[in-house]
Amino acid sequence: MPVPLLDLKAQHAAIREAVLAAMLPVVDDQAFILGKPVSELEADVAKLSGTKFAVGCANGTDALLLALRALEIGRNDEVITTPFTFFATAGTIHNAGATPVFVDIDPRTYNIRPDLAAAAVTSRTKAVMPVDLFGQIAPIEEIRRLMPRTPLIEDAAQSIGARRSIDCEWRMAGEVATIGTFSFFPSKNLGGYGDGGMMVTQDEALYNRLMRLRTHGSVKTYFHEEVGYNSRLDALQAAVLKAKLPYLAKWSAKRRENAAFYNAAFADIGDIVTPYVEPASESIFNQYTIRVPRRDKFREHLTARGIGHSVYYPLPLHLQPCFAYLGYKAGACPESEKAANEVVSLPVFPELTRAQLDEVVAAVRAFFGR
Ligand SMILES: Cc1ncc(COP(=O)(O)O)c(C=O)c1O
Repeated sequence: MPVPLLDLKAQHAAIREAVLAAMLPVVDDQAFILGKPVSELEADVAKLSGTKFAVGCANGTDALLLALRALEIGRNDEVITTPFTFFATAGTIHNAGATPVFVDIDPRTYNIRPDLAAAAVTSRTKAVMPVDLFGQIAPIEEIRRLMPRTPLIEDAAQSIGARRSIDCEWRMAGEVATIGTFSFFPSKNLGGYGDGGMMVTQDEALYNRLMRLRTHGSVKTYFHEEVGYNSRLDALQAAVLKAKLPYLAKWSAKRRENAAFYNAAFADIGDIVTPYVEPASESIFNQYTIRVPRRDKFREHLTARGIGHSVYYPLPLHLQPCFAYLGYKAGACPESEKAANEVVSLPVFPELTRAQLDEVVAAVRAFFGR
């Protein structure tokens, strides 16, 4: 039995009526840009994230770009980030006119190392941009402790709903950052029926700035305080996401359950490194990512058995051709480079059946002769 990496049709089948019912009033109203569905979703996401404000935008990439612009980051500025992430993290730093400064990851969590971030600070550093990779929040309290005056843009594109215990209190993805950003790309743990993104913040001035930046820098129609962007969240997407949001906690729990199932099933195979979640952290397992030796052979084996899988990410950003101008050489971020050669992500979506989980486990075990 083939098992896909992700089965959005299975999710849609379970919530079809609720989502279509939420979309219909928007279609009937013929009011597609911003409006009530967007402000309602913003209120819901702010509540979930423990923040005072949320601003919807066109996608998770724009959320990062608008955050950088709201913090006035541009030419001659540096932003410290991780190279082991999706391209948008550093692509937006470049597109804001600033320079990405890459520091290596913790090989257990794949998230940025705060000590290396702090060591990379120069007089040009204007922000640090940690990524909550695969569903686990980066050690933001440690980054804050080491760099208390540096604005923190938390790229939580993969991690809405994740929690981290800070000073014995649970904090949500985006809550502690200067600005936190989310992506509602359809394959994300909270995905729309198209592109979508959101920024959250506790700061009212930043909120106002983000609101302005997403509509061409204008508060009053046809009057522009600054040059912004056309980066709005569609009302239809907001309606879909608002209808899906009540299911998110249940889906995240199911993802954790699936991850625990795999962890137990692979525990006796010394060659597999299963995901490490810090004790003070609760991942939402946007991805279930393991490390294996002979990864290419392992992938061929999974493909032959019909098991969906993917490599996030095969080439760290500091070695991407487009960033050659920054001068990084192989070996600059050794843990990111090692991870890029060893990781592979397996199906972990909430609707996986027991039979599908068993199929994945059997295929993985067979590769190791079990
Ligand atoms: C870590 C990270 N940052 C940013 C993004 C960009 O989000 P979007 O695809 O919505 O622009 C993604 C999405 O893949 C991501 O995984």
